[in-house]
Amino acid sequence: CESKLQLVRRHIRDFPDFPKPGIVFRDICPILKDPAALTAVIDLFEEHVRKNHPQVELIVGLDARGFLFGPLLAQRLGVGFVMIRKKGKLPGTTASVAYDLEYGKAEAEIQEDAVAPGQKILLIDDLLATGGTLYAAGELLKKQQAEIMGCLVVIELNELNGSDKLKPLPVFSLVQY
Ligand code: PRP
Ligand code: HPA
Repeated sequence: CESKLQLVRRHIRDFPDFPKPGIVFRDICPILKDPAALTAVIDLFEEHVRKNHPQVELIVGLDARGFLFGPLLAQRLGVGFVMIRKKGKLPGTTASVAYDLEYGKAEAEIQEDAVAPGQKILLIDDLLATGGTLYAAGELLKKQQAEIMGCLVVIELNELNGSDKLKPLPVFSLVQY
């Protein structure tokens, strides 16, 4: 019988040369469209967190596709969810950081009062490529004196060595390419 991991892997599609020549885009839309596959993603994350980070107090998700999985996981775990957004989207006082992407540049922001000093958090996103996005998120949260326990991603692109960039933060990924 098919494992949860196999079910998740079977619901990721490849699009060569998107959004630029040479990039193979790994598309998670089929996961979202299939309730069993989406449940499997959250089950696998929940199992990992309960086993390895039972003290977690907050899930922090990255714009935009971290928002698809983060709140579902946070609700399962009975903890809150916080958004890190692209520049200019969040009201009130924010902290921000600029970073490079696999295919461009961006700036990320968080509300200044979103995380309390010493709060134990896990970062979540759909995909780890170069690690620039999660690294920038880590820098933002360090400024706020959060205790970052690790990163969760559905997909990790091994050849871009994103998990090296994030060291010593542990990265947990469900599917690797
Ligand atoms: C993608 C992806 C990750 C990030 C990974 O998002 O969802 O957030 O890039 O790349 P990295 O590891 O090299 O930083 P993107 O910035 O394309 O934005 P989107 O989620 O708004 O589409
Ligand atoms: N797929 C989806 N998002 C991405 C990718 C990818 O291959 N690379 C960087 N962000």
